[in-house]
Amino acid sequence: MRILFIGDIFGRPGRHLVAERVPELVKQRGIDLVIANAENAAAGFGLTPSIAIELLGLGIDVLTTGNHVWDKRELVEFFQQSEHNFNENARRVLRPANFPAGSPGWGHFEGKTRRDVPFAVVNLQGRTFMAANEDPFRAADAILKSISAKVVLVDFHAEATSEKVAFGWYLDGRVTAVVGTHTHIPTADERVLPKGTAYITDVGMSGPYDSVIGVEKELALHRFLSGMPARFEPAKGDPRLCAVIIECDRDTGRASAIERVMLGPHEHHQPGKQ
Ligand SMILES: [Fe+2]
Ligand SMILES: [Fe+2]
Repeated sequence: MRILFIGDIFGRPGRHLVAERVPELVKQRGIDLVIANAENAAAGFGLTPSIAIELLGLGIDVLTTGNHVWDKRELVEFFQQSEHNFNENARRVLRPANFPAGSPGWGHFEGKTRRDVPFAVVNLQGRTFMAANEDPFRAADAILKSISAKVVLVDFHAEATSEKVAFGWYLDGRVTAVVGTHTHIPTADERVLPKGTAYITDVGMSGPYDSVIGVEKELALHRFLSGMPARFEPAKGDPRLCAVIIECDRDTGRASAIERVMLGPHEHHQPGKQ
């Protein structure tokens, strides 16, 4: 079976490109399961319930997030309400599982694909150059013990390449794939580790590349040059969709291939026109 994982969807340019490209990619490549990191989907900062529902409506099965998950208050309420009244959409949106105990929402999801294959998605966050959360390595151990699906994808949302690659080795042979998110820059190290886990350090952002990791480049430059705080605006130009396609055995969950994908809009779109 094939899994499509889409890197950090950033703002409207990222969302439009996902809407334009993902349904055809699913059809053309025979994708069985679609997962996307959506922590920057709402104008670069966080995710709203309506955007989550819109993305799930495109055929994305599960949305992961990261350090930006609480940027929009509505999402916190969406999670809290779902604790009392079960809401399938809210359950399919994850926040890192190693956040402090009692955080709203859930860190992993278990379900079945349209072709009835059990799968699980786990969202974890790194700790190097990031907030001091629970140990993601031990958190992964605990979650994997509770999961019965063989096809398991882990979104490891982290800053340091060293922590990410260490995490990949830690889970080699125990999950189908460990995909890195958060840095918004795709890395060229995709591979299947010796025990059958597909790995990439960072899938890259799905958003405007005429930017500094999604932000208007003049604003980011100003901050670097002056050291002064600046309000960040999401950029618009040069949208690209960054993703990976993972091929795995539906019974054992072992990965056999991982392929990097980078797509722009179709040619009939005028540059700069969303
Ligand atoms: Fe991000
Ligand atoms: Fe992030």
